[in-house]
Amino acid sequence: MEYFKDKKRALRNRTITLGDSEISRLRKKLIKISQPVSISQIENKTIHQNMFEVIDNLPDKFIDLAFVDPPYNLNKNFNLTSFRAMDSEKYAEWLDSWVKKLIHILKPHASIYICGDWKSSGAIFSVAKKYFEIQNRITFEREKGRGAKANWKNCSEDVWFCTLSGNYYFDIEAVKMKRKVIAPYKDETGRPKGWEKTENGKYRITHPSNFWTDLTIPFWSMPENTDHPTQKPEKLVAKIILASSKPGDVVFDPFLGSGTTSVVAKKLGRKYIGIEIDEFYCCLAEKRLEMAEKEKTIQGYSDAVFWERNTLNERVSGNGRKKQIETLDNLFTNKPL
Ligand SMILES: C[S@@+](CC[C@H](N)C(=O)[O-])C[C@H]1O[C@@H](n2cnc3c(N)ncnc32)[C@H](O)[C@@H]1O
Repeated sequence: MEYFKDKKRALRNRTITLGDSEISRLRKKLIKISQPVSISQIENKTIHQNMFEVIDNLPDKFIDLAFVDPPYNLNKNFNLTSFRAMDSEKYAEWLDSWVKKLIHILKPHASIYICGDWKSSGAIFSVAKKYFEIQNRITFEREKGRGAKANWKNCSEDVWFCTLSGNYYFDIEAVKMKRKVIAPYKDETGRPKGWEKTENGKYRITHPSNFWTDLTIPFWSMPENTDHPTQKPEKLVAKIILASSKPGDVVFDPFLGSGTTSVVAKKLGRKYIGIEIDEFYCCLAEKRLEMAEKEKTIQGYSDAVFWERNTLNERVSGNGRKKQIETLDNLFTNKPL
C-alpha cells in the first residue's frame, strides 16, 4: 500500500513522503499495548492504537508535559478514519471521556496544553476547568485558511494552557522572542533603550505573550511538511516544550498525528511517547524521528530565541560572505557556515 502515491508534486516540493518499503520497515518500530506497561517499555515510542485502549494501561504519574491536539469539532478525514462535527455539548462529553483518563498519568507538577478552534474552544474550557487549573489561553494566527463569502475568514486557533496545580514548571527565559524594533528609542546618553543594533537590523528580545503571530502552518516548501491534514508547526510545539519542560522530561501526545510533538521533544532533548490510531501517520512520525537524529533545527528558532515569521537571520561566514541560515519560512535553508 502506497499512500498519496499518485499525488503530483512541484519540483521544489519538500513534503515528507513514504513508499511501500519504508512503511514496511517503519511499522516494525511501532508498538501496541494490551496490559499495564512500565515506563521503559514505552519511552521514546510511537504507540499505534486507539488512545482509549491505551491510557488505562500506562503507568501512574510519569508525564511532565502533555501536548494534546485532538480532532476539532469539525468534519475531517484523517486518512482511514474520520471525525464528524457534533453539537457542543456532545463534543464536551467526548472530550471529558478521555481528559479524565489522562489525570492518572500526569506528575503532580505537570502541564497540559489542549488545542482547539473557536468552535471547540468553549467545550475545552468547560471540561478543562473540571480537572485542571487553567493558566492561560494562547491564541495563534494561522495564515492558511479559505475566505468566506458571508463570514470572517477563520484564521486563529487556541491552545489552552492547564496545570494540575499551582506548583508547575515554567521557563520564560527559554521562549523569548527576537523582534524587529519599530521605534528605536534611546536613553539620555544616546544608548539604545532595550534593543541592540546587529548587522541585520535593530532587534529587541521580548517576553512572549499569549497571542502568537509568528507561526507558519506547514506547507509544501517547508522541510517539516507531511500530508497530514492538520499538522502543527514545530515552532509552536517547541515554544510549549521549552517553556513547560526540562531536558530529560517526558512529553506525551495522545493524538500524535504526523509526530510533531515527539519530533520536537527529541530535537530538544526530552523523552517522548505518542499515540496515534492511523498506521500511515505513525510511520510518518517514525520517519521524522529518524530525520531528527541528524537534523535538530526547528524552523524559526535559533540562537536560543524565536524569530518573527519570515525574518532573515544572516551570518557572516569565514570568507566574509553573508549566508542565510534562518528563517524565511518558505525558503528555509539550513546549510552550516
Ligand atoms: C488534530 S490531529 C493531530 C495532528 C498533530 N498534532 C500533528 O502535528 O501532526 C489528530 C490526530 O488524532 C488521531 N486520532 C483520532 N482519534 C484517535 C484516537 N481515538 N486514538 C488515537 N489517535 C486518534 C487522528 O488520526 C489524527 O491524526
